[in-house]
Amino acid sequence: MKNHDIVEKNVGILIVFICIAISFGALVEIVPQFFVEANVEPVAGLKPLGPVELEGRDIYIREGCHVCHTQMVRPLRAEVERYGHYSMSQESVYDHPFLWGSKRTGPDLARVGGRYSDEWHRAHLYNPRNVVPESNMPSFPWLFDNVVHGDRTAIKMRALRTVGVPYTDEDIAKAGEPFVGGRVKEIDALVAYLQQLGVLVQQKR
Ligand code: HEC
Repeated sequence: MKNHDIVEKNVGILIVFICIAISFGALVEIVPQFFVEANVEPVAGLKPLGPVELEGRDIYIREGCHVCHTQMVRPLRAEVERYGHYSMSQESVYDHPFLWGSKRTGPDLARVGGRYSDEWHRAHLYNPRNVVPESNMPSFPWLFDNVVHGDRTAIKMRALRTVGVPYTDEDIAKAGEPFVGGRVKEIDALVAYLQQLGVLVQQKR
């Protein structure tokens, strides 16, 4: 009883004990997750992004799409009914950095792949009001003019390989090929990236 009084009446000691209690909780809950093999095994069929999709992902980051859109369907009924199967860690083992996000100004995009046609995405990104009249998403018309040169794609792949993304030497050697002659506009790369999001895991209905 006496010891308890000392802790409760002394803010410094109380803070120390609270920190110990909270970190103990984190240790017990989080640390074992790193050792659960199933959490770090890639989902069946998962491949590292191809050069065009990889450049698309960087455009997604540059334009701040992740600031308004999450890529994380939570395991709650309302979310699963709206977006599809909840997100699993095995789907993002090759994602560096993760784009799970935390703020949804627009809908979650974790499973947007295949939901709309490429034409829909192009019209939408050019000016969202073209296809969703009440939309307040910004327009991204410059994506239709800017060409992706791909001169740094190989370097990006090599960097990703150092953190465990299994790109082969051949993947890296051929990284620049799709971009030869300025064939790939930023919009093409971004739409290619969007169209593969979450397609490996389908909702069982
Ligand atoms: C300022 C916030 C904001 C930003 C930035 C933003 N969006 Fe959106 N986005 C929205 C809102 C709001 C909607 C819902 C209305 C609509 O469909 O246009 C939306 C809808 C979408 C949809 C349709 C999703 C669905 O399931 O119907 C896609 C795809 C999308 N955004 C992609 C992008 C991409 C790619 C970028 C970056 C180039 C981006 N957004 C940037 C707010 C944003």
